[in-house]
Amino acid sequence: MPTPTVFITGAAAGIGRSTALEFSRAGYLVGAYDIDATGLASLQEAITSAGGRVVTGVLDVTDPEQWEKRLKEFDAEAGGRLDILVNNAGILVAGRFEEMPLELHKRQIDINVNGVVYGTHAAFPYLKATPGAQVINLCSASAIYGQPELATYGATKFAVRGITEALDLEWAEYDISVKAMWPLFVNTAMTAGVSTGTTNSLGIKLSADDVSASIFKATRPSKRPYHKVHFPVGLQSKALSLGSRFSPAWLTREVNRRLSHT
Ligand SMILES: NC(=O)c1ccc[n+]([C@@H]2O[C@H](COP(=O)([O-])OP(=O)(O)OC[C@H]3O[C@@H](n4cnc5c(N)ncnc54)[C@H](O)[C@@H]3O)[C@@H](O)[C@H]2O)c1
Repeated sequence: MPTPTVFITGAAAGIGRSTALEFSRAGYLVGAYDIDATGLASLQEAITSAGGRVVTGVLDVTDPEQWEKRLKEFDAEAGGRLDILVNNAGILVAGRFEEMPLELHKRQIDINVNGVVYGTHAAFPYLKATPGAQVINLCSASAIYGQPELATYGATKFAVRGITEALDLEWAEYDISVKAMWPLFVNTAMTAGVSTGTTNSLGIKLSADDVSASIFKATRPSKRPYHKVHFPVGLQSKALSLGSRFSPAWLTREVNRRLSHT
């Protein structure tokens, strides 16, 4: 059996780091990429001291050329397999839409959306060459309904949802499945100091390990009789996504208005 491989962006911290450790424990060759070289060195130490194998490299997901280079380097180590690409790198800037400088709106779109487009595009030949390859995209419960004070962040996750659904259909002929993870707020550096209507009303209940465990589970073969694309993480996200599917639009808006204290 060849060693399975996973390529993870934003792996130096938070959910990405936890995902790298989870897959390493399961025997995967882990490709861990980030703009934070110090965080990557710490992850490398944690994986190798536990007997795992990891390839690390600096990758800014907004740079298509870096994507090409890092994927090629990883492929050389991975023996031509890319079983799982995890598009995890992301940023969140909270605040009133009109008060946030345009540069911060643009930066969220560049990393959270363009980063996924560039990476998934560059990874296609490697995914296609690997039977049963998967792409895992970090979506968010902020994309169930637009969130005040997180308007652009939530919009980037609506985009990730769209890319996920489309490519999961488009790439089925290549035996590539594409899945979206939907956590609500997670206790990482991303949410440290963030105070919005919904972080205050719903709290920050999930850990990075909760999300990485769900990512790992989502990538396992399943006996379910239907094809699953969306994976809510945690009870709150499950309840909100179910609720929004079955309630009329006016009620969904009203629930979100109350939760966000607007
Ligand atoms: N924390 C949450 O509440 C939450 C909830 C739902 C979804 N998510 C999503 O999960 C993913 C990971 O979030 P997290 O909470 O672990 O965040 P985090 O801030 O803890 O970690 C993000 C990592 O991404 C890296 N990164 C930032 N810009 C990058 C770039 N241009 N290129 C490469 N790497 C870059 C950072 O250096 C950092 O290591 C994000 O896509 C986020 O939107 C997070």
